[in-house]
Amino acid sequence: PSIDRPAREKCKHSIHKNKSAAIVARSLRVIKTMKTLKTQVAIIGAGPSGLLLGQLLHNAGIDTLILERQTPDYVLSRIRAGVLEQGMVELLRQAGVSQRMDAEGLVHGGFELALDGRQVHIDLHALTGGKTVMIYGQTEVTRDLMAARREADAQTIYSASNVVPHGMKSDEAFVTFEKDGETWRVDCDYIAGCDGFHGVARQSIPEDCLQVFERVYPFGWLGILADTPPVHDELVYARHERGFALCSMRSATRTRYYLQVPAEENVADWSDQRFWDELKNRLPVALAEKLVTGPSIEKSIAPLRSFVVEPMQYGRMFLVGDAAHIVPPTGAKGLNLAASDVSTLFNILLKVYREGRIDLLEKYSEICLRRVWKAERFSWWMTSMLHRFDDHDAFSQRISASELDYFVSSEAGRKTIAENYVGLPYEAIE
Ligand code: APR
Ligand code: PHB
Repeated sequence: PSIDRPAREKCKHSIHKNKSAAIVARSLRVIKTMKTLKTQVAIIGAGPSGLLLGQLLHNAGIDTLILERQTPDYVLSRIRAGVLEQGMVELLRQAGVSQRMDAEGLVHGGFELALDGRQVHIDLHALTGGKTVMIYGQTEVTRDLMAARREADAQTIYSASNVVPHGMKSDEAFVTFEKDGETWRVDCDYIAGCDGFHGVARQSIPEDCLQVFERVYPFGWLGILADTPPVHDELVYARHERGFALCSMRSATRTRYYLQVPAEENVADWSDQRFWDELKNRLPVALAEKLVTGPSIEKSIAPLRSFVVEPMQYGRMFLVGDAAHIVPPTGAKGLNLAASDVSTLFNILLKVYREGRIDLLEKYSEICLRRVWKAERFSWWMTSMLHRFDDHDAFSQRISASELDYFVSSEAGRKTIAENYVGLPYEAIE
């Protein structure tokens, strides 16, 4: 199928100005001599976005090829999010990869806010008319998707280097990559850029065709994973004058805890003992007394950032998940936004291949962005309400304490928090 250039895109393609020119020039040199593969949808990146999109398309009889820069072990070694909205849970079921999640995942009907020592329960189930979230690690979602793809005999090329998308604005899109010293070309109808925040897809779009919206926060999260029982049967988000803390979990025997730390903090300065002592300081006494500590299995610091690019598409290439947007983790929205992008792109491609509805392709970005911005707003709000901002004056601090107090004391306020936390509905594609 051929697609028209969207009328609203008036950017001048000044590819000389940015990284995309260098990327294209480097790979064009070798195009003439390379081996060629063919697929319908070439997917860059085998994180949750790429694998889930690949599985849904494969099940629908649409051919995909995934190109991943890392090895499978490396991809599985990354410890990421752990809260799945109901929409994502249903999408994983639709993709046929929910068996282990349904058996081992923990359904949570609420979470706890600990506000300077005072505990407030957010009853997600009651406040949203029966909705819940599923506690199941992103690493496990990825493991299940990898197994399903292997089972389906669908191709993923790991350790693919120098992956570059080409011809996105033409009728001959293709992707080049190198593997074991050879250069390959993948001819395709469409390209899905599922390659995360540091990926090549977004960087291959001319700079003047994208608008970037960004906020970097002056702190990060220091996280540890430990084989200890959870301190509470639900997640606890704690606001404290020493900084934010979060008690999360992966199972009844594995916990994930986070502390707000300055952006420039060094993880080597945090012994396990220091971490546990600081966590106890920031939790209400009743919880601190119950906290079971133990050796950490993993310890790392992640910066906090809000980031969106518009539009999320460039001709035949579509940006999905972290490639297009980042949220600070306070609202547990990163992975879930990736899933709603996947759902939108999958439903559009299904209509394109089954019914020839190429007119729907240009709606991808606007449909995704409406939901993306609402999750950006909620994640920014949760971050602003619960963290310590050293640069805020006394007036701003009182205003945000009062805003949070208003929200948690009012049923309407708690409903707003709950409705956003369980996830806003996926928008229909037409
Ligand atoms: N070529 C090929 N693969 C690439 C390239 C590249 N140039 N750059 C990055 N990748 C791969 C990464 O190695 C990674 O496996 O793309 C994948 C992107 O995966 P993620 O970063 O996990 O992004 P995504 O799949 O969109 O997942 C959504 O939600 O909660 C958040 O950050 C969390 O990862 C999570 C994300
Ligand atoms: C996690 O378990 O890693 C987690 C949970 C909730 C969040 C962020 C991270 O808001």
